[in-house]
Amino acid sequence: MLENFEFISLSETDSTQIYAKRLFSKKKLKHGLVITAEKQTAGVGRYDRKWESPEGNLYFTLVLKPTISVNYWSQLSYAIGVSIGEAILLIDHNLDIKYKWVNDIMLEGKKVAGILLENLEDQFLLIGIGVNLIKNQAIDNLQATCLSEHSNNFNKDLLLDTILRRIKMNYEVFHSLGFEPLRNLWLKRALNLGSNIKANFADHSVEGRFLGIDAKGRLELFSEGEVKFIDAAEVYFG
Ligand code: BTN
Repeated sequence: MLENFEFISLSETDSTQIYAKRLFSKKKLKHGLVITAEKQTAGVGRYDRKWESPEGNLYFTLVLKPTISVNYWSQLSYAIGVSIGEAILLIDHNLDIKYKWVNDIMLEGKKVAGILLENLEDQFLLIGIGVNLIKNQAIDNLQATCLSEHSNNFNKDLLLDTILRRIKMNYEVFHSLGFEPLRNLWLKRALNLGSNIKANFADHSVEGRFLGIDAKGRLELFSEGEVKFIDAAEVYFG
């Protein structure tokens, strides 16, 4: 369970993920720790990409020590995505929020938030979250947008507080009811469900119809007459 959060609030750091790793090497990480930064000088995105982090947007790392088997940790990325989407919609229910496999939150078809999950030696899970609040940070060749372009309801403290409350709630849902309810919530707002998409591997790509995600959290793609299952770890989308 996730009872209380503890906060480390930094005005500037290289990356809240790297900061957490330094704490890990000093054996100072704890379940429920939240590290926030006003800006990051070396913010990291997925696949070692840079995450531009000027002042004004939301950047934080939440540290979890999940009690479930490490085999299921990647399913938590859906719980986190859904929590961010729900938090945004709680603050402004008029917004058009969608989830793009595996870890992007889209607003009117453009990326508004990203999630980076890192497993620290099967002991801790670092959940890095970046939300474009007032500045667009394009990444992965995706078009980007920010919340302030669409709504006046947002401020950083409210957004952080609402996201953490939803994560706490959905973490409990995950523990008590399993992956299924979160998978369904994610699929209700999945971008491109039923359409053709392209999954890029390091040395090849697979195109097919996006059928859904399976009970293990893998992407189901109908390609060359069969259903292919793709793990998030293997793939990036160009
Ligand atoms: C992505 O979409 O590629 C994931 C982006 C994750 C960015 C956040 S910002 C807070 C945390 N610290 C980092 O250096 N990265 C994550």
